[in-house]
Amino acid sequence: MKTNSINSISPLDGRYFSQTAFLAEFFSEKALIQYRLKMTKSNSKIWGGRFSSATNQLMEEFNSSIQFDKNLYIEDIEGSIAHSEMLSKQKIISKNELELIVSGLKQIELEISNSEFNFSLELEDIHMNIENRLIEIIGEAGKKLHTARSRNDQVATDIKLWLRKRIDQIEVSLKSLQETLIEKSELYYDLLMPGYTHLQVGQPVTFGHHLLAYVEMLGRDRGRLSDCRKRLNELPLGSAALAGTSYPIDRHFVAQKLNFSKPTENSMDAVSDRDFAIEFMSVSSLIAIHLSRLAEELVIWSSDSFNFIKLPESYTTGSSIMPQKRNPDAAELIRAKPGRIFGNLLSLMTVLKGLPMTYGKDMQEDKEPVFDTAKTIESCIINMEGMIKNLEPIPYKMMEALQKGFPTATDLADYLVTELKIPFRDAHHLTGQIVMLAEKKESTLENLTIEEIKTIIPNAETTILDILKIESSVSKRTSYGGTAPDNVLQAIKKAKERFLKD
Ligand code: ARG
Repeated sequence: MKTNSINSISPLDGRYFSQTAFLAEFFSEKALIQYRLKMTKSNSKIWGGRFSSATNQLMEEFNSSIQFDKNLYIEDIEGSIAHSEMLSKQKIISKNELELIVSGLKQIELEISNSEFNFSLELEDIHMNIENRLIEIIGEAGKKLHTARSRNDQVATDIKLWLRKRIDQIEVSLKSLQETLIEKSELYYDLLMPGYTHLQVGQPVTFGHHLLAYVEMLGRDRGRLSDCRKRLNELPLGSAALAGTSYPIDRHFVAQKLNFSKPTENSMDAVSDRDFAIEFMSVSSLIAIHLSRLAEELVIWSSDSFNFIKLPESYTTGSSIMPQKRNPDAAELIRAKPGRIFGNLLSLMTVLKGLPMTYGKDMQEDKEPVFDTAKTIESCIINMEGMIKNLEPIPYKMMEALQKGFPTATDLADYLVTELKIPFRDAHHLTGQIVMLAEKKESTLENLTIEEIKTIIPNAETTILDILKIESSVSKRTSYGGTAPDNVLQAIKKAKERFLKD
Protein backbone atom coordinates (compact mmCIF):
# COMPACT_ATOMS: atom_id res chain seq x y z
CA MET A 1 0.00 0.00 0.00
CA LYS A 2 1.16 3.50 -0.82
CA THR A 3 2.01 5.72 2.10
CA ASN A 4 3.28 9.22 2.45
CA SER A 5 3.31 11.82 5.18
CA ILE A 6 -0.22 12.99 4.46
CA ASN A 7 -1.77 9.63 3.92
CA SER A 8 0.00 7.53 6.53
CA ILE A 9 -2.78 8.25 9.01
CA SER A 10 -5.34 6.63 6.81
CA PRO A 11 -5.24 2.95 6.04
CA LEU A 12 -7.43 3.24 3.00
CA ASP A 13 -7.18 2.36 -0.68
CA GLY A 14 -7.00 4.33 -3.95
CA ARG A 15 -10.21 6.22 -3.42
CA TYR A 16 -8.51 8.06 -0.62
CA PHE A 17 -5.88 9.34 -2.99
CA SER A 18 -8.37 10.63 -5.48
CA GLN A 19 -10.23 12.46 -2.73
CA THR A 20 -6.92 13.97 -1.69
CA ALA A 21 -6.43 15.29 -5.19
CA PHE A 22 -9.94 16.68 -5.12
CA LEU A 23 -9.46 18.46 -1.83
CA ALA A 24 -6.09 19.76 -2.91
CA GLU A 25 -7.89 21.87 -5.46
CA PHE A 26 -9.57 23.75 -2.67
CA PHE A 27 -6.98 23.88 0.07
CA SER A 28 -3.34 24.70 -0.02
CA GLU A 29 -1.08 21.73 0.58
CA LYS A 30 0.05 23.20 3.87
CA ALA A 31 -3.49 23.62 5.13
CA LEU A 32 -4.29 20.09 4.11
CA ILE A 33 -1.29 18.63 5.91
CA GLN A 34 -2.06 20.62 9.04
CA TYR A 35 -5.60 19.45 8.94
CA ARG A 36 -4.71 15.81 8.43
CA LEU A 37 -2.09 15.76 11.14
CA LYS A 38 -4.38 17.26 13.71
CA MET A 39 -5.53 14.33 15.84
CA THR A 40 -7.78 15.60 18.57
CA LYS A 41 -8.92 13.36 21.38
CA SER A 42 -11.99 15.37 22.22
CA ASN A 43 -14.39 16.90 19.77
CA SER A 44 -13.96 20.61 19.23
CA LYS A 45 -16.77 21.09 16.77
CA ILE A 46 -19.42 23.83 17.06
CA TRP A 47 -21.89 21.03 17.78
CA GLY A 48 -19.29 18.98 19.67
CA GLY A 49 -20.71 19.36 23.20
CA ARG A 50 -22.17 15.87 23.47
CA PHE A 51 -19.26 14.11 21.73
CA SER A 52 -16.35 12.50 23.54
CA SER A 53 -14.20 11.54 20.59
CA ALA A 54 -13.10 13.19 17.42
CA THR A 55 -14.76 12.64 14.08
CA ASN A 56 -13.04 10.12 11.88
CA GLN A 57 -11.00 12.22 9.52
CA LEU A 58 -12.05 10.44 6.38
CA MET A 59 -15.63 10.78 7.48
CA GLU A 60 -14.97 14.47 8.05
CA GLU A 61 -13.85 14.93 4.49
CA PHE A 62 -16.73 12.86 3.24
CA ASN A 63 -19.18 14.81 5.33
CA SER A 64 -18.05 18.31 4.53
CA SER A 65 -19.59 20.42 1.80
CA ILE A 66 -17.42 23.51 2.06
CA GLN A 67 -15.56 22.55 -1.13
CA PHE A 68 -18.67 23.42 -3.11
CA ASP A 69 -21.09 25.29 -0.85
CA LYS A 70 -18.65 28.16 -0.44
CA ASN A 71 -20.34 29.20 -3.65
CA LEU A 72 -23.21 30.32 -1.44
CA TYR A 73 -21.31 32.77 0.73
CA ILE A 74 -22.99 35.93 -0.56
CA GLU A 75 -26.46 34.47 -0.05
CA ASP A 76 -25.54 33.03 3.34
CA ILE A 77 -24.44 36.47 4.50
CA GLU A 78 -27.47 38.16 2.95
CA GLY A 79 -29.74 35.75 4.83
CA SER A 80 -27.86 36.19 8.09
CA ILE A 81 -28.09 39.98 7.92
CA ALA A 82 -31.86 39.86 7.35
CA HIS A 83 -32.22 37.31 10.15
CA SER A 84 -30.23 39.39 12.62
CA GLU A 85 -32.15 42.54 11.71
CA MET A 86 -35.31 40.68 12.57
CA LEU A 87 -33.82 39.36 15.83
CA SER A 88 -33.02 42.93 16.81
CA LYS A 89 -36.42 44.29 15.78
CA GLN A 90 -38.01 41.57 17.93
CA LYS A 91 -35.67 42.46 20.79
CA ILE A 92 -34.17 38.99 20.82
CA ILE A 93 -30.74 40.62 20.38
CA SER A 94 -29.75 44.21 21.12
CA LYS A 95 -29.15 46.99 18.57
CA ASN A 96 -25.50 47.01 19.49
CA GLU A 97 -25.23 43.28 18.90
CA LEU A 98 -26.94 43.71 15.56
CA GLU A 99 -24.42 46.35 14.50
CA LEU A 100 -21.52 44.14 15.49
CA ILE A 101 -22.99 41.16 13.65
CA VAL A 102 -23.65 43.13 10.47
CA SER A 103 -20.21 44.71 10.37
CA GLY A 104 -18.56 41.34 11.09
CA LEU A 105 -20.53 39.68 8.30
CA LYS A 106 -19.59 42.42 5.87
CA GLN A 107 -15.96 42.00 6.75
CA ILE A 108 -16.26 38.26 6.13
CA GLU A 109 -17.85 38.90 2.76
CA LEU A 110 -14.87 41.03 1.81
CA GLU A 111 -12.41 38.47 3.10
CA ILE A 112 -14.01 35.75 1.00
CA SER A 113 -14.31 37.83 -2.15
CA ASN A 114 -10.66 38.87 -1.81
CA SER A 115 -9.64 35.24 -1.31
CA GLU A 116 -8.35 36.05 2.16
CA PHE A 117 -10.69 33.75 4.01
CA ASN A 118 -9.32 30.56 5.48
CA PHE A 119 -11.92 27.90 4.72
CA SER A 120 -11.83 25.00 7.10
CA LEU A 121 -12.90 21.48 6.32
CA GLU A 122 -13.46 20.83 9.99
CA LEU A 123 -16.13 23.48 10.01
CA GLU A 124 -17.99 21.38 7.48
CA ASP A 125 -19.89 23.92 5.45
CA ILE A 126 -20.24 27.56 4.54
CA HIS A 127 -22.71 28.23 7.36
CA MET A 128 -20.36 27.12 10.13
CA ASN A 129 -17.30 28.59 8.46
CA ILE A 130 -18.91 32.00 8.44
CA GLU A 131 -20.42 31.72 11.91
CA ASN A 132 -17.12 30.60 13.39
CA ARG A 133 -15.24 33.47 11.78
CA LEU A 134 -17.89 35.90 12.99
CA ILE A 135 -17.31 34.75 16.55
CA GLU A 136 -13.56 35.15 16.03
CA ILE A 137 -14.05 38.73 14.82
CA ILE A 138 -16.79 40.10 17.13
CA GLY A 139 -16.75 37.69 20.07
CA GLU A 140 -19.82 36.95 22.24
CA ALA A 141 -22.37 38.76 20.02
CA GLY A 142 -21.44 36.43 17.18
CA LYS A 143 -22.69 33.48 19.20
CA LYS A 144 -26.20 34.93 19.09
CA LEU A 145 -26.59 34.96 15.30
CA HIS A 146 -27.80 31.38 15.18
CA THR A 147 -30.68 32.07 17.62
CA ALA A 148 -34.06 30.91 16.28
CA ARG A 149 -32.71 29.26 13.17
CA SER A 150 -30.98 26.07 12.11
CA ARG A 151 -28.70 25.15 9.28
CA ASN A 152 -31.67 23.30 7.82
CA ASP A 153 -33.77 26.38 7.15
CA GLN A 154 -30.62 28.39 6.47
CA VAL A 155 -29.33 26.17 3.69
CA ALA A 156 -32.74 25.96 2.02
CA THR A 157 -32.89 29.76 2.08
CA ASP A 158 -29.37 30.14 0.71
CA ILE A 159 -30.01 27.87 -2.26
CA LYS A 160 -33.26 29.61 -3.06
CA LEU A 161 -31.57 33.01 -2.97
CA TRP A 162 -28.76 31.72 -5.17
CA LEU A 163 -31.06 30.01 -7.64
CA ARG A 164 -33.33 33.02 -7.90
CA LYS A 165 -30.41 35.13 -9.12
CA ARG A 166 -29.34 32.49 -11.62
CA ILE A 167 -32.89 32.14 -12.92
CA ASP A 168 -33.06 35.90 -13.48
CA GLN A 169 -29.76 35.79 -15.31
CA ILE A 170 -30.76 32.82 -17.49
CA GLU A 171 -34.03 34.55 -18.31
CA VAL A 172 -32.12 37.61 -19.54
CA SER A 173 -29.83 35.43 -21.66
CA LEU A 174 -32.78 33.58 -23.17
CA LYS A 175 -34.44 36.84 -24.05
CA SER A 176 -31.28 38.06 -25.70
CA LEU A 177 -30.99 34.84 -27.73
CA GLN A 178 -34.60 35.30 -28.84
CA GLU A 179 -33.78 38.84 -29.89
CA THR A 180 -30.86 37.64 -31.99
CA LEU A 181 -32.98 34.93 -33.61
CA ILE A 182 -35.68 37.48 -34.39
CA GLU A 183 -33.14 39.85 -35.94
CA LYS A 184 -31.81 37.05 -38.12
CA SER A 185 -35.31 36.03 -39.21
CA GLU A 186 -36.03 39.61 -40.14
CA LEU A 187 -32.98 39.62 -42.43
CA TYR A 188 -33.99 36.34 -44.02
CA TYR A 189 -37.77 36.36 -43.77
CA ASP A 190 -38.10 35.31 -47.44
CA LEU A 191 -34.95 33.25 -47.95
CA LEU A 192 -36.06 29.89 -49.32
CA MET A 193 -34.76 26.67 -47.88
CA PRO A 194 -35.98 23.10 -47.64
CA GLY A 195 -38.28 22.26 -44.76
CA TYR A 196 -37.73 18.70 -43.65
CA THR A 197 -39.60 15.79 -42.19
CA HIS A 198 -37.58 12.63 -41.51
CA LEU A 199 -34.63 14.78 -42.63
CA GLN A 200 -36.00 14.37 -46.16
CA VAL A 201 -36.98 17.47 -48.10
CA GLY A 202 -40.68 18.02 -47.43
CA GLN A 203 -41.88 21.46 -48.44
CA PRO A 204 -40.14 24.78 -48.99
CA VAL A 205 -40.03 27.15 -46.04
CA THR A 206 -38.20 30.37 -45.33
CA PHE A 207 -35.10 30.58 -43.18
CA GLY A 208 -36.85 33.25 -41.12
CA HIS A 209 -39.77 30.94 -40.41
CA HIS A 210 -37.41 28.18 -39.37
CA LEU A 211 -35.56 30.42 -36.90
CA LEU A 212 -38.81 31.73 -35.44
CA ALA A 213 -39.72 28.17 -34.48
CA TYR A 214 -36.91 28.35 -31.92
CA VAL A 215 -38.11 31.72 -30.69
CA GLU A 216 -41.39 30.00 -29.76
CA MET A 217 -39.64 27.15 -27.94
CA LEU A 218 -37.49 29.53 -25.95
CA GLY A 219 -40.54 31.65 -25.18
CA ARG A 220 -42.19 28.66 -23.51
CA ASP A 221 -38.95 27.95 -21.66
CA ARG A 222 -38.98 31.47 -20.30
CA GLY A 223 -42.56 30.95 -19.15
CA ARG A 224 -41.56 27.76 -17.36
CA LEU A 225 -38.62 29.51 -15.71
CA SER A 226 -40.80 32.28 -14.41
CA ASP A 227 -43.34 29.76 -13.05
CA CYS A 228 -40.51 27.97 -11.31
CA ARG A 229 -39.29 31.25 -9.86
CA LYS A 230 -42.76 32.07 -8.54
CA ARG A 231 -43.15 28.76 -6.75
CA LEU A 232 -39.62 28.92 -5.40
CA ASN A 233 -40.05 32.38 -4.00
CA GLU A 234 -41.20 31.49 -0.47
CA LEU A 235 -38.88 31.97 2.47
CA PRO A 236 -37.84 28.85 4.46
CA LEU A 237 -35.89 30.77 7.15
CA GLY A 238 -37.61 30.69 10.55
CA SER A 239 -38.75 27.09 10.06
CA ALA A 240 -35.71 26.32 12.25
CA ALA A 241 -34.64 22.67 12.41
CA LEU A 242 -38.02 21.28 11.38
CA ALA A 243 -40.75 22.33 13.80
CA GLY A 244 -40.56 26.10 13.93
CA THR A 245 -39.27 27.97 16.97
CA SER A 246 -40.52 29.24 20.32
CA TYR A 247 -38.78 32.62 19.90
CA PRO A 248 -41.08 35.48 18.96
CA ILE A 249 -39.71 35.82 15.43
CA ASP A 250 -41.23 37.73 12.52
CA ARG A 251 -40.89 35.65 9.38
CA HIS A 252 -42.91 38.07 7.24
CA PHE A 253 -40.36 40.78 7.99
CA VAL A 254 -37.48 38.55 6.86
CA ALA A 255 -39.41 37.49 3.76
CA GLN A 256 -39.88 41.10 2.82
CA LYS A 257 -36.23 41.97 3.48
CA LEU A 258 -35.08 39.17 1.20
CA ASN A 259 -37.71 39.83 -1.49
CA PHE A 260 -39.57 36.59 -1.00
CA SER A 261 -43.30 36.74 -1.72
CA LYS A 262 -44.06 35.20 1.70
CA PRO A 263 -42.76 32.80 4.34
CA THR A 264 -43.33 29.08 3.67
CA GLU A 265 -46.49 27.66 5.25
CA ASN A 266 -45.15 24.46 6.77
CA SER A 267 -41.85 24.21 8.60
CA MET A 268 -41.38 20.50 7.89
CA ASP A 269 -41.94 20.95 4.17
CA ALA A 270 -39.72 24.02 4.09
CA VAL A 271 -36.59 22.32 5.42
CA SER A 272 -36.96 19.08 3.55
CA ASP A 273 -38.05 19.64 0.00
CA ARG A 274 -35.89 20.53 -2.94
CA ASP A 275 -38.62 20.31 -5.52
CA PHE A 276 -37.75 23.84 -6.60
CA ALA A 277 -34.24 22.68 -7.51
CA ILE A 278 -35.65 19.73 -9.43
CA GLU A 279 -38.07 22.04 -11.19
CA PHE A 280 -35.21 24.34 -12.15
CA MET A 281 -33.23 21.43 -13.49
CA SER A 282 -36.18 20.09 -15.47
CA VAL A 283 -36.77 23.50 -17.03
CA SER A 284 -33.06 23.59 -17.80
CA SER A 285 -33.35 20.15 -19.37
CA LEU A 286 -36.01 21.44 -21.73
CA ILE A 287 -33.89 24.46 -22.61
CA ALA A 288 -30.99 22.09 -23.22
CA ILE A 289 -33.17 19.93 -25.46
CA HIS A 290 -34.21 22.93 -27.53
CA LEU A 291 -30.69 24.28 -27.81
CA SER A 292 -29.32 20.89 -28.73
CA ARG A 293 -31.82 20.58 -31.59
CA LEU A 294 -30.73 23.94 -32.95
CA ALA A 295 -27.09 22.98 -32.39
CA GLU A 296 -27.59 19.78 -34.37
CA GLU A 297 -29.13 21.78 -37.20
CA LEU A 298 -26.11 24.07 -37.21
CA VAL A 299 -23.86 21.02 -37.43
CA ILE A 300 -25.89 19.60 -40.32
CA TRP A 301 -26.25 22.92 -42.15
CA SER A 302 -22.57 23.71 -41.91
CA SER A 303 -21.47 20.23 -43.02
CA ASP A 304 -19.81 19.86 -46.43
CA SER A 305 -22.73 17.87 -47.76
CA PHE A 306 -25.32 20.54 -46.92
CA ASN A 307 -23.28 23.72 -46.87
CA PHE A 308 -26.36 25.85 -46.10
CA ILE A 309 -24.54 28.17 -43.71
CA LYS A 310 -21.11 29.41 -42.84
CA LEU A 311 -20.55 29.32 -39.10
CA PRO A 312 -18.51 32.17 -37.67
CA GLU A 313 -14.86 31.17 -37.51
CA SER A 314 -14.71 32.27 -33.91
CA TYR A 315 -17.00 29.37 -32.97
CA THR A 316 -15.22 26.67 -34.94
CA THR A 317 -11.85 24.97 -34.62
CA GLY A 318 -9.31 23.50 -36.98
CA SER A 319 -8.13 19.94 -37.06
CA SER A 320 -4.61 19.14 -35.94
CA ILE A 321 -4.19 16.77 -38.85
CA MET A 322 -6.64 17.63 -41.63
CA PRO A 323 -5.83 21.16 -42.77
CA GLN A 324 -9.05 21.70 -44.71
CA LYS A 325 -11.33 21.22 -41.69
CA ARG A 326 -13.43 23.71 -39.76
CA ASN A 327 -15.15 21.83 -37.00
CA PRO A 328 -18.35 23.13 -35.40
CA ASP A 329 -17.13 22.47 -31.83
CA ALA A 330 -19.36 24.95 -30.05
CA ALA A 331 -22.46 23.51 -31.70
CA GLU A 332 -21.33 19.97 -30.95
CA LEU A 333 -20.79 20.82 -27.30
CA ILE A 334 -24.25 22.36 -27.03
CA ARG A 335 -25.58 19.20 -28.65
CA ALA A 336 -23.80 17.16 -25.97
CA LYS A 337 -24.53 19.17 -22.83
CA PRO A 338 -28.00 17.69 -22.23
CA GLY A 339 -26.04 14.61 -21.12
CA ARG A 340 -24.84 16.29 -17.95
CA ILE A 341 -27.95 18.41 -17.50
CA PHE A 342 -30.27 15.38 -17.58
CA GLY A 343 -27.75 13.54 -15.39
CA ASN A 344 -27.88 16.29 -12.79
CA LEU A 345 -31.67 16.22 -12.79
CA LEU A 346 -31.76 12.47 -12.41
CA SER A 347 -29.19 12.53 -9.64
CA LEU A 348 -31.21 14.90 -7.45
CA MET A 349 -34.50 13.17 -8.20
CA THR A 350 -32.90 9.92 -7.06
CA VAL A 351 -31.53 11.51 -3.88
CA LEU A 352 -34.93 12.87 -2.88
CA LYS A 353 -37.09 9.89 -3.73
CA GLY A 354 -38.17 7.93 -0.68
CA LEU A 355 -36.48 10.34 1.72
CA PRO A 356 -38.42 10.36 5.00
CA MET A 357 -39.32 13.72 6.50
CA THR A 358 -37.67 15.97 7.30
CA TYR A 359 -34.05 17.01 6.61
CA GLY A 360 -31.50 14.28 5.88
CA LYS A 361 -27.85 14.77 5.09
CA ASP A 362 -28.72 13.25 1.73
CA MET A 363 -29.95 16.70 0.84
CA GLN A 364 -26.44 18.08 0.86
CA GLU A 365 -26.15 16.33 -2.49
CA ASP A 366 -28.45 18.96 -4.01
CA LYS A 367 -25.83 21.63 -4.55
CA GLU A 368 -23.35 20.33 -7.08
CA PRO A 369 -25.97 19.32 -9.67
CA VAL A 370 -27.77 22.63 -9.27
CA PHE A 371 -24.57 24.68 -9.54
CA ASP A 372 -23.38 22.71 -12.55
CA THR A 373 -26.73 22.94 -14.31
CA ALA A 374 -26.97 26.70 -13.91
CA LYS A 375 -23.45 27.23 -15.17
CA THR A 376 -23.80 24.82 -18.09
CA ILE A 377 -27.13 26.09 -19.36
CA GLU A 378 -26.00 29.68 -19.14
CA SER A 379 -22.91 29.02 -21.24
CA CYS A 380 -24.91 27.02 -23.80
CA ILE A 381 -27.28 29.95 -24.30
CA ILE A 382 -24.50 32.50 -24.62
CA ASN A 383 -22.48 30.42 -27.09
CA MET A 384 -25.58 29.69 -29.13
CA GLU A 385 -26.30 33.37 -29.37
CA GLY A 386 -22.77 34.06 -30.60
CA MET A 387 -23.13 31.51 -33.37
CA ILE A 388 -26.56 32.70 -34.50
CA LYS A 389 -25.52 36.33 -34.53
CA ASN A 390 -22.58 35.73 -36.85
CA LEU A 391 -23.62 32.87 -39.08
CA GLU A 392 -24.14 33.50 -42.78
CA PRO A 393 -26.60 31.56 -44.89
CA ILE A 394 -25.58 30.39 -48.38
CA PRO A 395 -28.84 30.88 -50.33
CA TYR A 396 -27.92 29.11 -53.58
CA LYS A 397 -27.01 25.96 -51.66
CA MET A 398 -30.36 25.99 -49.93
CA MET A 399 -32.06 26.41 -53.31
CA GLU A 400 -30.06 23.58 -54.88
CA ALA A 401 -31.11 21.22 -52.12
CA LEU A 402 -34.68 22.39 -52.42
CA GLN A 403 -34.90 21.73 -56.13
CA LYS A 404 -33.44 18.27 -55.77
CA GLY A 405 -36.15 17.38 -53.27
CA PHE A 406 -39.25 18.00 -55.50
CA PRO A 407 -40.71 20.15 -52.72
CA THR A 408 -43.73 21.40 -54.68
CA ALA A 409 -45.24 17.96 -55.10
CA THR A 410 -47.86 18.66 -52.43
CA ASP A 411 -48.79 21.88 -54.21
CA LEU A 412 -49.33 19.95 -57.42
CA ALA A 413 -51.56 17.40 -55.70
CA ASP A 414 -53.58 20.20 -54.08
CA TYR A 415 -53.93 21.91 -57.47
CA LEU A 416 -55.27 18.74 -59.09
CA VAL A 417 -57.85 18.50 -56.32
CA THR A 418 -59.05 22.12 -56.41
CA GLU A 419 -58.71 22.97 -60.10
CA LEU A 420 -59.15 19.67 -61.91
CA LYS A 421 -61.56 18.20 -59.31
CA ILE A 422 -59.55 15.00 -59.04
CA PRO A 423 -60.09 13.15 -55.70
CA PHE A 424 -57.07 13.60 -53.39
CA ARG A 425 -55.97 9.92 -53.45
CA ASP A 426 -55.86 9.92 -57.24
CA ALA A 427 -54.17 13.33 -57.27
CA HIS A 428 -51.52 11.97 -54.90
CA HIS A 429 -50.92 9.02 -57.22
CA LEU A 430 -50.65 11.17 -60.37
CA THR A 431 -48.27 13.53 -58.64
CA GLY A 432 -46.14 10.57 -57.65
CA GLN A 433 -45.89 9.66 -61.35
CA ILE A 434 -44.88 13.23 -62.22
CA VAL A 435 -42.10 13.06 -59.61
CA MET A 436 -40.94 9.77 -61.10
CA LEU A 437 -40.86 11.36 -64.53
CA ALA A 438 -38.75 14.27 -63.29
CA GLU A 439 -36.43 11.85 -61.56
CA LYS A 440 -36.01 9.83 -64.76
CA LYS A 441 -35.28 12.96 -66.78
CA GLU A 442 -32.96 14.24 -64.05
CA SER A 443 -35.03 17.40 -64.01
CA THR A 444 -36.52 19.52 -61.24
CA LEU A 445 -40.32 19.78 -61.08
CA GLU A 446 -40.03 23.41 -62.14
CA ASN A 447 -38.18 22.51 -65.32
CA LEU A 448 -40.68 19.97 -66.66
CA THR A 449 -42.43 21.11 -69.84
CA ILE A 450 -46.20 21.17 -70.26
CA GLU A 451 -45.88 18.44 -72.93
CA GLU A 452 -44.08 16.18 -70.49
CA ILE A 453 -46.70 16.81 -67.83
CA LYS A 454 -49.52 16.09 -70.27
CA THR A 455 -48.20 12.56 -70.81
CA ILE A 456 -49.47 11.87 -67.29
CA ILE A 457 -52.22 14.48 -66.82
CA PRO A 458 -53.71 14.96 -70.29
CA ASN A 459 -55.98 17.88 -69.32
CA ALA A 460 -53.22 19.87 -67.57
CA GLU A 461 -53.04 23.56 -68.48
CA THR A 462 -50.02 25.87 -68.50
CA THR A 463 -51.05 27.40 -65.13
CA ILE A 464 -49.76 24.15 -63.66
CA LEU A 465 -46.19 25.37 -64.36
CA ASP A 466 -46.65 28.19 -61.85
CA ILE A 467 -47.82 25.75 -59.25
CA LEU A 468 -44.55 23.89 -59.54
CA LYS A 469 -42.51 27.01 -58.74
CA ILE A 470 -40.97 27.05 -55.29
CA GLU A 471 -41.62 30.76 -54.67
CA SER A 472 -45.30 30.39 -55.37
CA SER A 473 -45.50 27.38 -53.07
CA VAL A 474 -44.11 29.37 -50.18
CA SER A 475 -46.11 32.52 -50.74
CA LYS A 476 -49.33 30.50 -50.71
CA ARG A 477 -48.71 29.10 -47.21
CA THR A 478 -50.62 31.93 -45.60
CA SER A 479 -52.61 29.94 -43.03
CA TYR A 480 -52.11 31.26 -39.48
CA GLY A 481 -48.61 30.26 -38.38
CA GLY A 482 -47.59 29.30 -41.94
CA THR A 483 -44.36 30.07 -43.76
CA ALA A 484 -45.43 32.66 -46.38
CA PRO A 485 -42.97 35.59 -46.22
CA ASP A 486 -45.81 38.02 -45.45
CA ASN A 487 -46.83 35.82 -42.55
CA VAL A 488 -43.26 35.69 -41.34
CA LEU A 489 -43.08 39.48 -41.32
CA GLN A 490 -46.26 39.58 -39.25
CA ALA A 491 -44.95 36.88 -36.93
CA ILE A 492 -41.75 38.86 -36.38
CA LYS A 493 -43.73 41.92 -35.41
CA LYS A 494 -45.78 39.89 -32.96
CA ALA A 495 -42.76 38.09 -31.57
CA LYS A 496 -41.16 41.43 -30.75
CA GLU A 497 -44.32 42.43 -28.87
CA ARG A 498 -44.64 39.12 -27.08
CA PHE A 499 -41.03 38.48 -26.13
CA LEU A 500 -38.93 41.61 -26.29
CA LYS A 501 -41.07 44.19 -24.50
CA ASP A 502 -39.70 45.76 -21.26
N1 ARG B 1 -24.19 21.41 4.65
C1 ARG B 1 -25.54 21.05 4.92
C2 ARG B 1 -26.31 20.85 3.64
O1 ARG B 1 -25.87 21.30 2.65
C3 ARG B 1 -26.21 22.12 5.73
C4 ARG B 1 -27.32 21.64 6.58
C5 ARG B 1 -26.81 20.74 7.64
N2 ARG B 1 -27.83 20.40 8.59
C6 ARG B 1 -27.66 19.42 9.45
N3 ARG B 1 -28.62 19.21 10.28
N4 ARG B 1 -26.60 18.67 9.46
O2 ARG B 1 -27.34 20.26 3.60
